[in-house]
Amino acid sequence: MKTHTPSAGGIQPAGPGSAEAAAQALQHACELQRNGLYAEAEGEYERLLAAFPDASPLHYNLGLMLYAQQRYGESLEHYLQAMDGAGDDPDLLYNLGLCLKKCGRTADSAMVYEEMLRLAPRDVDGLYSLAGCLRELHDYQRAEAVLGRLLALKPDHRPAAGSLAYLLHLQGRLAESCAAYLRLLELDPENRTARHMVAALRGDRLATAADDYVRSVFNGYADGFEASLVQDLGYRVPAELRRGVDLFAGRGRRYAHLLDLGCGTGLVGTAFADICACLTGVDIAEEMIARSREKGIYDHLAVSGIMPFLVAAESRYDLVTLADVLIYLGDPEPVLAAIQAVTTDDAVLCFSIEVAGTATYRLQPTGRFAHSPGHIAGIAGRTGWTVCRSEPIRLRREGDGWIGGMLFFLLKAGSGQPVMGPLP
Ligand SMILES: C[S@@+](CC[C@H](N)C(=O)[O-])C[C@H]1O[C@@H](n2cnc3c(N)ncnc32)[C@H](O)[C@@H]1O
Repeated sequence: MKTHTPSAGGIQPAGPGSAEAAAQALQHACELQRNGLYAEAEGEYERLLAAFPDASPLHYNLGLMLYAQQRYGESLEHYLQAMDGAGDDPDLLYNLGLCLKKCGRTADSAMVYEEMLRLAPRDVDGLYSLAGCLRELHDYQRAEAVLGRLLALKPDHRPAAGSLAYLLHLQGRLAESCAAYLRLLELDPENRTARHMVAALRGDRLATAADDYVRSVFNGYADGFEASLVQDLGYRVPAELRRGVDLFAGRGRRYAHLLDLGCGTGLVGTAFADICACLTGVDIAEEMIARSREKGIYDHLAVSGIMPFLVAAESRYDLVTLADVLIYLGDPEPVLAAIQAVTTDDAVLCFSIEVAGTATYRLQPTGRFAHSPGHIAGIAGRTGWTVCRSEPIRLRREGDGWIGGMLFFLLKAGSGQPVMGPLP
């Protein structure tokens, strides 16, 4: 958000004596707003607006304050009314663009940024935001051109360097993307995403994704996660895991305690809640955990890495899920062994993998790990699990096709339960 100092300019007092009173009331409202006393400030602004309905500064201040409270629809109304009397104000246009984006009107937001940049062509915030909108609108060429303009003005702009690297990656221009991530590393040597993506694009062997990388990716992705993954990309792993568990363990089985590792926004909890007495979710990204918490399904939620959680766990679980999580964990052996140690004798473990055509597992240029189904079966045996069922699944759309994966359903070895379904 561009900062805007609330002012009394533009208010036309109605009669003698009212000028001073209006200025004082506005001062007071601004003071309340600056101190975060939004409800009180809103009351003051509403009173002032009753007297000065067309005063742009009042609408602008209200718009800012409603935006800060995430009341984006109402904020938009006031920004638009502020526009009527404000003339060409690039900061107001910038804030309007932000608000339109929050309202899901990305194309309108892009148009407003274009307008803003006609007034302030060197505004790097405007350029950066416009590039983000164009990328979301899949207008990659124009997004790249805008980032080019920005980086010409400010070559050390880290977010723009990262955005360019990501944009090139999205277009499959992997060598250029790798070079762009290397440039980002020059600007920001601690940048975990850049480090991870350089390793992925160069084909380096990594055993796991760095915690900081996963945290920053999913904290940034939490808001749009379900819309993007479920609605746009056809992701159905949680529901398919549930279907598979019902099939092989029997539709009537109930579970005392589900442990959902890498629970994200809680899609697995939603899919399994009716057959579990207690649900625990674990995720390293606090924003993802916050979305899970909003669902009100889990009894316990922990912001933690999976391995530290398992090492410290005192409860025992009879159902454990890893839905679309091994793609970040890499080597499955430590986690399967650690889950063994925290589960009951009749426990069920189910998870998905992306399928790799290699002997074991590897980090792909996408930045995600893929696993060989045979390797998973071998590790299951070594860590005290029996693979009861495995089946292919279309994980999610990518480009014009689908990413191929497998679902695995394991029982604790020696649990005496029957083994069903073919091994891969
Ligand atoms: C693709 S999302 C899947 C979320 C959820 N399981 C679902 O199916 O919707 C992967 C999740 O795993 C979490 N994650 C990845 N590696 C992790 C780790 N080492 N420890 C804890 N959480 C991790 C991420 O933060 C992210 O929320």
